[in-house]
Amino acid sequence: MSDRSDAPTSVIRLADYRPPAWAVAHVALEFDLGIDRTEVLATLELVRQADEPIRLDGEGLELLELHLDGRRLGEGEYILANGVLEVGVDGDRCTLATRVAVRPAENTAFEGLYLSGSRDAGFLLTQCEAEGFRHITFYPDRPDVLSTFTVTLRADKARFPVLLAGGNPDGAGDLGDGRHWARFVDPHPKPSYLFALVAGRLERISRDYTTADGRAVALHIWAEADVIDRCDYAMDSLERSMRWDEQAYGRNYDLDVFHVVATHDFNMGAMENKGLNIFNAKYLLADPDSSTDDEYRHVEAVVAHEYFHNWSGNRVTCRDWFQLSLKEGLTVFREQSFSADMNSAPLKRIEDVSLLRRAQFPEDAGPLSHPVRPSQYSEINNFYTATVYEKGAELVRMLAGHLGHQGFRKGMDLYFERHDGQAATIEDYLGALGDANGVDLAPYLAWYGQAGTPRLSAEGRYDEGKRRYRLLLRQRTPASAGQPNKQPLPVPVRLSLFDASGRALPLRLEGETQASAVERTVVLTGAEQAFVFEDIDAAPVPSLLRGFSAPVILECEYAPRELALLLRHDADGFNRWDAGQQLAGLAYDACRDGEPAGAAVAAWADALAGLFSDAGIDDALLAELLTPPGEIELVERQPERDPERIRAARQAMLRALASAIGTDALRTRYDSLRAQASAGLDAASQARRQLKRRLLDLLALVDANEGKALAAAQYDAAPGMTDRLAALATLAVTAPAAAEAPLAHFRERYDGNALALDKWFALQAQLPGDGALARVQALERDDAFTLKNPNRVQALLGTFARTNPTGFHRADGAAYRWLADRLVAIDALNPQVAARVATAFNGWKRLEPARREAAHAVVAELAGRKDLSRDLTDILARVAL
Ligand code: PHE
Ligand code: ZN
Repeated sequence: MSDRSDAPTSVIRLADYRPPAWAVAHVALEFDLGIDRTEVLATLELVRQADEPIRLDGEGLELLELHLDGRRLGEGEYILANGVLEVGVDGDRCTLATRVAVRPAENTAFEGLYLSGSRDAGFLLTQCEAEGFRHITFYPDRPDVLSTFTVTLRADKARFPVLLAGGNPDGAGDLGDGRHWARFVDPHPKPSYLFALVAGRLERISRDYTTADGRAVALHIWAEADVIDRCDYAMDSLERSMRWDEQAYGRNYDLDVFHVVATHDFNMGAMENKGLNIFNAKYLLADPDSSTDDEYRHVEAVVAHEYFHNWSGNRVTCRDWFQLSLKEGLTVFREQSFSADMNSAPLKRIEDVSLLRRAQFPEDAGPLSHPVRPSQYSEINNFYTATVYEKGAELVRMLAGHLGHQGFRKGMDLYFERHDGQAATIEDYLGALGDANGVDLAPYLAWYGQAGTPRLSAEGRYDEGKRRYRLLLRQRTPASAGQPNKQPLPVPVRLSLFDASGRALPLRLEGETQASAVERTVVLTGAEQAFVFEDIDAAPVPSLLRGFSAPVILECEYAPRELALLLRHDADGFNRWDAGQQLAGLAYDACRDGEPAGAAVAAWADALAGLFSDAGIDDALLAELLTPPGEIELVERQPERDPERIRAARQAMLRALASAIGTDALRTRYDSLRAQASAGLDAASQARRQLKRRLLDLLALVDANEGKALAAAQYDAAPGMTDRLAALATLAVTAPAAAEAPLAHFRERYDGNALALDKWFALQAQLPGDGALARVQALERDDAFTLKNPNRVQALLGTFARTNPTGFHRADGAAYRWLADRLVAIDALNPQVAARVATAFNGWKRLEPARREAAHAVVAELAGRKDLSRDLTDILARVAL
């Protein structure tokens, strides 16, 4: 990144992959750390693999010295150009040493070695994935070069009392001149992107852990003094993750220490550096007064995710960055399974699929669409996407479903055993899973190479005379950038058939002698295929894609009463919810088309009203059922997008729901939930809060005055952040004037608490309507706002552009022009963050004409600039297409 794009951007292609010409047998790094200037001595033991000169990547480095086998090289004995240091060598082995200087305090891109926090109080840390190591020293900075690392850190003892690097500690001491040193040895060969160091004033909490295979491990979580008391939940989560990976996958931790560090200055969520995970504080710190229930779950999930990478990512890493989903899709899947085990499995599935639909489906339907394994990129940082992560996890889930629980475990065991210490590919992964089970998984490879969300259409026909039900499945994937023609993919469809009373029928396929079960999985492999079920007494209602068995869009023409039947009776918690979502889709269509009193709306609202009075249903599931698809998901239900109309229709259906349930019933239930309010983190308390929030929103929709009073009271009485923030959000939407005082109170109460303030910014960035842009602009002038902090930028600008459709897509295009201006300013500081925010323009082509034109003008102008980073230029070039 950070080099401006006046140089033509080069495209990296998967097809051009070549193994490294030189391997690194060992690397010794010595750091003389300083905030303004740090010197790095790197001594590489190189081993020839091909008849080529040594080529090392390096960007933004001041080269001080270069030694080959102990001899200092003069100019003319090497070439340094375009970020590559080239040295010709005769023999097959050599030792190459470079000494360079870097400038951490000037590093606003947060890639390589940088300063978190202020010059006086902050600390130094590194971020190397994907290509940050080349900002620290000259190195073959690619994931298929694995080496053991010895790291020595030297620094002023008073300013940098804590010195950390990945690996086992190997000595520390005083240097006598006010400085001290510490050494770390990592015996596990790793690629450079997993290197990390941290140095500064940090506090810690610690715990002893013994692995299943008997290793004593010291766990340390490090954070700045003001937040160290918010790390306990992360420590508990870490211990649970380690135990779970031992039990579920037989994987043990493999070093004597494990460090986790929190920083407020981080571009992404967290990073799995070997033995030294570094976290965005947002995903590590948690306390009831400043964190919501959702945030607690995120901390647990992200701690697990990074820990699980120790095997899926670190012990077995990626051959090249095209294989990114090999570690990310797999690790997200592992994380999802862990969270499902720790919490409620159906609710977790609902959460995951909602995220996929909200973030990945739109990505895959627009100009940024790309395969889970892309075939080319110009900036790898732009491929840490919902497609690589979330869709990638769905692909692993399909494979796991195909192999069954034990088969998948056998396959994973073989994968880890066969590729331990290696840099692997997606083919290696499918090969190991397949070999362990004697099956050929090659057909699934097509899922990795093909972009776009497949449409699965299902058509059932019942033959009364033959007592047969014929289900015709068809698939089609729309064309996407660079992929005009799509192939059929293997689509596993888990299904059941229900009779009119809601009973699941035994399933016997044509040609079988007896029914096997009431649920089974059929796999559609071609473009279309019919499945015939025998012994069916009356036309059944199919429950398809149970548990969301494949990441597709289901097109099935259900009658509202059929969906209502599934919503009432489906035993698959996910499909039950999804039937409600589909029914809500029909209700939405009706509202949008001016029929709020039509049959679809009544069917949806009445079905939910029925469930509302059903005491057997879990509070959290009920809350989910009462939540129709969001404004962003609803975009795809019409060819052209007018955010105002979408919102109005959605609000209309919610009002219909509220009146179907009845204000009294809502109010009674809300009061009883409020009476039980507590700060407890147990599942039941969380579920009550979630339902309470839905009810408050519904009440406020039908009776603004009552909503205002209830929300204000809930804000004042809230025992924790979940209730407080929910009340504030409802109040701000329902009664903006009445929200002013509580908003000011919140701002004051949490002054200095960065994560709480981010929520304050984000909440206001989401408020819909005409005043939204002016509100965001006013918030930019708040003392706490800065373009230098990625979390803050995401909280205000990211939230506004991505999750406030009526505000961002205002008809006059003013918000587009404003964002373009900010993108240029952010880009000058931090290209990765600018590129991420810019993805908000992804859907511009599907806007109604006036907005489309306004957006296009802005995108085209930006895309034409020559002074932007490679990161931002890449996103704009693709979005503008
Ligand atoms: N590898 C990190 C994760 O998903 C994400 C990340 C990518 C962090 C790039 C920093 C930089 O766990
Ligand atoms: Zn990851």
